[in-house]
Amino acid sequence: MPLKKINIKKMIRPNCAGFEPYVAGRPVETIKRELGLKKVVKLASNENPLGPSKKAVEAIKRAASSVFYYPDSNSWKLKKALSVKYGIETSKIMLGAGSDELIELIAKLFFKPGDEIVVSDHAFIRYKMAGELMGSKVVSVPMKDFTHDLKAMAEAVNKKTKAVFIANPNNPTGTYNSTAEFESFMKKVSRFSPLVVMDEAYYEFASVNKDYPQTQKYLSRYPNLIILRTFSKVYALAGLRVGYGFAGGDIVDYIERIRPPFNISSVAQAAAEASLSDKTQVSRGIKLVEQGKKFICSELDKLGVPYINSAANFLLLDIAPLKGREAFQSLLKKGVIARAMDEYDMPDFIRVSVGLEPENRMFIKAFKALLGRKN
Ligand SMILES: Cc1ncc(COP(=O)(O)O)c(C=O)c1O
Repeated sequence: MPLKKINIKKMIRPNCAGFEPYVAGRPVETIKRELGLKKVVKLASNENPLGPSKKAVEAIKRAASSVFYYPDSNSWKLKKALSVKYGIETSKIMLGAGSDELIELIAKLFFKPGDEIVVSDHAFIRYKMAGELMGSKVVSVPMKDFTHDLKAMAEAVNKKTKAVFIANPNNPTGTYNSTAEFESFMKKVSRFSPLVVMDEAYYEFASVNKDYPQTQKYLSRYPNLIILRTFSKVYALAGLRVGYGFAGGDIVDYIERIRPPFNISSVAQAAAEASLSDKTQVSRGIKLVEQGKKFICSELDKLGVPYINSAANFLLLDIAPLKGREAFQSLLKKGVIARAMDEYDMPDFIRVSVGLEPENRMFIKAFKALLGRKN
């Protein structure tokens, strides 16, 4: 019997039918293949080019021969190591295949049509995607000086608000909100007490600033607080996909009920746990980024190209009257993968991650060529 023709689009939940895929940073090998280039550097996904800790690599090798077993569904050792490091009970710790999965698990657990999700304009786009995935209304609040305007975001909260997402620091702007701003925001929204999700993917880089909030200290006071962090950035384990979260009240208990049981592979658990025991991994990453940012910013100053001060491992450049998408293509031809910012409503901007010193130099050289300046 011939197969009946089916209309897949009609079967999709209506709120998902118009979705566009997330634009990920292009991989080095793909660009080499497509453009026939020998040397390509990826400064597109805010990774740590120093690579993972040696301890993590050793742990990966050790874990390799046991991959015929399913992983520990509770990631007990990794949770224990996080618990010791941050002084937070294991029952308040959740793990995801990247903090990205945790964003989506929060959405699946809590959001429904009729809920409002408050985000900032130009904030990390996955919050908006998560809200829309569940058919909730996403309320986007304008930024102030390229920074989350927490006062205005608090004012946007009402009885329909299920969650507020705050990227601190934000990707792609690199800006952060201070402890005083965070405290005042938490007080202001206490009347409605929505979930407050502090996404701190760049926590380690931003923590060098004294007024950056150490939000884990507020968990016992606010049962609506969720903090997300990751092993993808300073710990350089992006390819293994491990993110973690701390949450107040019984949020973790409920997340556990919908979490895919084996979302963190055994190799990833071992590598993340070993990374935490390497005392130098974080400081080496921070140092590289501080030096790299200094170099790139001084070159941009010489060129008169404006950029936003960043507390993270990337910089957002205002390249008007040039367009980000064209600049991206032009840099690509010179072997530099950066990011255009069209999906963030910033068509005149590009974002560049801080790389190793020669990579940063390669970017500046390609960028000068793009501007028609001499090297
Ligand atoms: C602000 C922010 N949050 C979350 C993530 C997701 O990171 P991962 O899923 O690798 O933990 C990223 C990745 O770039 C990010 O920039």
